[in-house]
Amino acid sequence: MSVGIDDISFYSSGMYLPLTSLAAHNGENPDKYRIGLGQDRMSVPAQDEDIVTLAANAAHPLITEANRDQISTVLFATESGIDQSKAAGVYVHRLLKLGSNCRVVELKQACYSATAALQLACGMVARKPNDQVLVIASDIARYGLGTPGEATQGCGAVACIIKRDPRLLDVHPESGCYSEDVMDFWRPNYMDTALVDGKYSTMIYLKALRQSWKNYREDGGLAFDQFARFCYHLPFTKMAEKAHRKLAVTNGVSMPEELLERQIGAGLLYSRQIGNSYSAALYIGIASLLEHDGEDLSGQHIGLFSYGSGCVGEFFSGTVRPGYREYSRREDHLAMLEARQELDYQAYTTHFGRSCPQDGGTHDFAEEAAGRYRLAGVHDHKRVYTEVGE
Ligand code: CAA
Repeated sequence: MSVGIDDISFYSSGMYLPLTSLAAHNGENPDKYRIGLGQDRMSVPAQDEDIVTLAANAAHPLITEANRDQISTVLFATESGIDQSKAAGVYVHRLLKLGSNCRVVELKQACYSATAALQLACGMVARKPNDQVLVIASDIARYGLGTPGEATQGCGAVACIIKRDPRLLDVHPESGCYSEDVMDFWRPNYMDTALVDGKYSTMIYLKALRQSWKNYREDGGLAFDQFARFCYHLPFTKMAEKAHRKLAVTNGVSMPEELLERQIGAGLLYSRQIGNSYSAALYIGIASLLEHDGEDLSGQHIGLFSYGSGCVGEFFSGTVRPGYREYSRREDHLAMLEARQELDYQAYTTHFGRSCPQDGGTHDFAEEAAGRYRLAGVHDHKRVYTEVGE
């Protein structure tokens, strides 16, 4: 039985900062961000947006009357958790009006946890083939003003339906993991912004890639030259180029620019516009590949590398299903990104600088979010979510 991704949808906030504006303010050459990091824009969340509203907006298009009651589980991956106890997915479960006979849980391991969620979901469907699992990854990447990581900030959420005989991507059972206790990137509970040892984090990412690949091959995975395309975790798109070159060298394969572009280029387009979306980034990359690659990838194998600082890496793979293009959400995704409002540097600092009130009072937020779902306020330490028109 084949199990994998049947449908995929993502969402990002309705505002963005062009990185040329950030470069001008920071006194940097804009090419450092555009070419050196491979980023053009960063999505900026409004005060009435958080991981729950981003997630609900991403998942809403996937829920139909036909599948609403078949979704047995919601797995919510994030490293921007809003509560130490309650899973963010429980709010999403209500906003999407899913059935009450549905388990909901939150998973954390930095940017990696969506892949753990995907693997768990595949196992659940293999055990109960009529079930469908909704996997959501949602994050807001914040490093702080003036930090080296600032240009790689962003936000976004992705939602996937995992089921048997999927329409988009069969996920193979072979995989290779690599875990090591390192401090390359972390966010203590008392901080709003991440701490990161930037250069070290890129080295550990590449080490985790090499080791995960070795373990993937030992698990019976495909050889490098059997893959048509590759998608990598995308903290910034240049990282995927570094990763792909490293994997090619590991396999004794030369990687001219044209081959590099063909093998990873289409998967980078959305990330250049959104910035880092942590746990969602690899899966927004998969959507980008399936929606933008000029060739028909039906039947082709895709190599996938997931990385979460701290760290856990996993190399796994899938095969694109024949006819996948019929189920593309490309036009909706492009329209959503096109409709975003451009911010100047001053407005960006205002939006990104606001944190959620912690005093237990009654706080109602101005209507700024562009999506269907918004965080209307916080009352007595309780987040209040609404749907447009409610
Ligand atoms: N034109 C073209 N390129 C230029 C340039 C110019 N004018 N000026 C600089 N560059 C290039 C540099 O040569 C460099 O490229 P290489 O890495 O290929 O040499 C690139 O632009 C970046 O320049 P710096 O190395 O000087 O940049 P920096 O030190 O200020 O910051 C960073 C880079 C450390 C990655 C920083 O952005 C950062 O800390 N980011 C957050 C951490 C991160 O994303 N880590 C990735 C791995 S961890 C992970 O993947 C998990 C996760 O999601 C966080």
